[in-house]
Amino acid sequence: MSSLDQLAGRLLGDHPRPGVLYGIGAGPGDPGLLTLRAAALLRRLDLGAVPRSVRRGGVAVQAIAAHTAPGSLVELVSDMPADPGAVERGWRGRVAPLVAALDEGRRVGMVTDGDPSLYSTFAHAAAAIVEARPATEVAVVPGVPSMCAAAAVEGRPLAVGADRVAVLPASRLETGDLEAALAAADTVVLLKAGAAMRRLRALLEGPARGWSVRYARRVGLEGEEHADTLDGASADYMALVILRRPAAGGE
Ligand SMILES: C[S@@+](CC[C@H](N)C(=O)[O-])C[C@H]1O[C@@H](n2cnc3c(N)ncnc32)[C@H](O)[C@@H]1O
Repeated sequence: MSSLDQLAGRLLGDHPRPGVLYGIGAGPGDPGLLTLRAAALLRRLDLGAVPRSVRRGGVAVQAIAAHTAPGSLVELVSDMPADPGAVERGWRGRVAPLVAALDEGRRVGMVTDGDPSLYSTFAHAAAAIVEARPATEVAVVPGVPSMCAAAAVEGRPLAVGADRVAVLPASRLETGDLEAALAAADTVVLLKAGAAMRRLRALLEGPARGWSVRYARRVGLEGEEHADTLDGASADYMALVILRRPAAGGE
């Protein structure tokens, strides 16, 4: 038995158990930010599903490649429609191989970028699987969220003391929602920022004037980029923006 297998035994106990659906956070993409528990679990899965968007690709695979057996991964390709009904319908169809594998008593997990509890496709997939197979138990292995990885590179905390943090999916919200977050929080983290770049620049000319800006793109991945301005920032889907009220962070 290898030392990694011994470690897996200590970390996982009797997991992974057949019939349990595992949501596994892969972190932002850097293999060094995959947790020991996630790596151990991946080594023991019969089937690992990885979401991939038709338009934007996926990043989880590079973080987990060293820990998965050839042929044990299946991609779940989604088109990410804006309509919530279409999202649910799409996932009902997509999870069929996972439902079948759970029925066969195989050990099944789904890998997601960052943490599975934060704006993750895992929530949609898990809901569809539980709907089709109500006996399914769901277990989550947390991962490093992209916003925490971005703050680590920046070397600046997201919040200190009584600072209030808001985390929002920028492309899914109206300008009014973003303004409300600015009024309520000291640090505003904007995920899915790429498609909202024009609105975010306008915000910086208005209610967010004077706030500090941090743009982080493809953290832990090839093409990683960090900037203190949105001027020239690419509209990449894998980008986030951190806005900080002038007095926030370390007061
Ligand atoms: C569907 S959300 C998933 C968030 C993820 N569950 C997490 O914990 O970070 C996708 C958004 O997360 C952000 N994101 C995920 N990975 C990233 C990375 N490596 N670098 C920068 N932003 C990332 C981007 O804002 C992207 O649009």
